[in-house]
Amino acid sequence: MQKILILDYGSQYTQLIARRIREQEVYAEIISYETTAEELKKLAPKGIILSGGPNSVFEKDAPSIDKGIFELGIPVLGICYGMQLMSQILGGRVVPGKEREYGKMPIETAKDNPLFKGIPSTITVWMSHGDRVEAIPSSFERGALSATCPFASMFDNKHKFYGLQFHPEVVHTQYGTEILKNFVFFICQCKNDWKLTNWVDATVKELKDRIGGEEVILGLSGGVDSSVAAVLLHKAIGKNLHCIFVDNGLLRYREAEQVEEMFKKNLGLDLTVARAAERFYEKLKGVDEPEAKRKIIGKEFIEVFTEEARKFKHCRYLAQGTIYPDVIESKSPKKGPSQTIKSHHNVGGLPPDLKFELIEPLKELFKDEVRAVGRVLKISDELLDRQPFPGPGLGVRILGEVTKEKVELLQQADRRVQEEIKKLPDYKTIWQTFAVLLPCRSVGVMGDQRTYEYTCAIRSVNSLDAMTADWTRLPYDTLATISNRIINEVRGINRVVYDISSKPPATIEWE
Ligand code: XMP
Repeated sequence: MQKILILDYGSQYTQLIARRIREQEVYAEIISYETTAEELKKLAPKGIILSGGPNSVFEKDAPSIDKGIFELGIPVLGICYGMQLMSQILGGRVVPGKEREYGKMPIETAKDNPLFKGIPSTITVWMSHGDRVEAIPSSFERGALSATCPFASMFDNKHKFYGLQFHPEVVHTQYGTEILKNFVFFICQCKNDWKLTNWVDATVKELKDRIGGEEVILGLSGGVDSSVAAVLLHKAIGKNLHCIFVDNGLLRYREAEQVEEMFKKNLGLDLTVARAAERFYEKLKGVDEPEAKRKIIGKEFIEVFTEEARKFKHCRYLAQGTIYPDVIESKSPKKGPSQTIKSHHNVGGLPPDLKFELIEPLKELFKDEVRAVGRVLKISDELLDRQPFPGPGLGVRILGEVTKEKVELLQQADRRVQEEIKKLPDYKTIWQTFAVLLPCRSVGVMGDQRTYEYTCAIRSVNSLDAMTADWTRLPYDTLATISNRIINEVRGINRVVYDISSKPPATIEWE
């Protein structure tokens, strides 16, 4: 399979470059900027992209590049920081910008620049840089200019080196995809041979070969990633896959039953459901501090999972639904000591006597590719289009102390929210919609009776990556129906409010 390799200099857009290229059915992978020319030669990509990044080439420890990469005869495209680095290394001049150039900017493109083949001579692009290239290396020609940027692009057809000061991978750049396509297909001569149906067949074969007659356990959460991983492995090794699902008593209405029905009855997977609700409620008794609750739920989960996993000690492998963005996060150079806002949990921390080898069959796929694989595997849309659900579940949506009664109350309210929201034509564009149970009660009147009951908040957000989010402008009629149904049908809640905070400064979950 042909591939484009992207050297990661830490830009928030690096993943987008890979996605845009994969959308063209060409395999793209992100690797460390420290990869040497020797290593790259072995990997034999059809083209190399140097991503953008937050640094300035003038900083003492600014990430650099093995110069030998420019002698491999492989086409190179530098984007933003990547272009500045390329200029500096190949003999051009970069100057520190007095001000940051940020936002949409019109540029004039040069006729002979193959990056702009078939694209109008004036386009609007997305700039985000401080330093800029003042003089290009001698073998290069000007590839585009803007009012403030003398070299918005540069090119050297002889060596097949190209630079873009702007970001073709973001949607704000007109013809951005065409520019990347010109690099990938016209300059690098790639074929579009990255097809997910082929990927599924190849991966099933690889898994069969690797696992042989050994057995595998997998922690199934009912979410998209672990479900797709389970079905893929089941296709490869059938009954030698053992799935474990922990019912922590903090799931959505009838979720445990649904998971059991789908995976055990419909798909024939070997599934153990650990019914541990009471254990979680017991541990959560009297605890109302959000981080303490999260820690307890995470720890108890590991304990229950470990107990179940011990029954499968003879298994050699532990499979996980790790996906590509999780892998990149841990490799990117921008890894900084970012503050812990909320502690998220994964299956980690198993005791040392349980030494499984890890299998992560989805670790090279983006989320939308995981969904596409799920469709190839004929997993239902209902499951694949599911909204994200946090590991600690309703535990972080019941503010204050969690009790079984409150869980049941919230499940009933949330079930009605889910039923109504699914009726909206643009349901799939909403990131998450859910109910939150507040720890306060207020006065109401029902019939002639005074009521004094709980308040339920509805949270609905639109987001691309959960890093930022805006509250969904749900139709008033939908909000009205949700409110009426909850107040009339769920005994124990007499008031419904709608959360209109965006992230930041609020977070998506309330705890
Ligand atoms: P916040 O509340 O931090 O949530 O804005 C961002 C996204 O992450 C989900 N979330 C979690 N997912 N384990 C998870 O697997 C967790 O502990 C967890 N906490 C929050 C949240 O639902 C949203 O999609």
